[in-house]
Amino acid sequence: MKSWIKVGLVLAVVLALPLVAISGGDAEKGKALFGTKCATCHAAGGEGKPAIAKMMKVEMKALGSKEVQAKKDAELKKDITEGNGKMKAVKLTDEEAANVIAFLRTLKK
Ligand code: HEC
Repeated sequence: MKSWIKVGLVLAVVLALPLVAISGGDAEKGKALFGTKCATCHAAGGEGKPAIAKMMKVEMKALGSKEVQAKKDAELKKDITEGNGKMKAVKLTDEEAANVIAFLRTLKK
């Protein structure tokens, strides 16, 4: 009986690992995605391009700033995939969103 419990535990851990990896987001993949889908406006380091801010007549906060980092993952996801103010929604899969958010967290100052 006890060995079955052990086998069950090992199986549970093995099965749970990929889930943790997905929900945690992969910052490396997120960085690549940010480079292709976000950096045109936000610049590679997330500080925001002055020309874009001027063109859109909006003040772009640095994505690593305290205000933006204070947002919860769910809020960031909403900003990105549903749009926020002058920013249009960017279509991403759940996994891509998790990855790009993991990357945004690396910008924290
Ligand atoms: C076409 C230009 C453009 C692209 C592409 C773009 N953004 Fe934005 N983003 C903006 C602008 C402009 C704002 C400021 C909107 C406002 O304050 O009205 C903004 C705001 C944001 C915010 C909210 C910041 C705050 O003030 O709280 C987040 C988060 C964000 N962008 C993330 C992303 C991510 C991640 C991507 C790529 C998947 C992306 N953006 C792509 C222009 C862009």
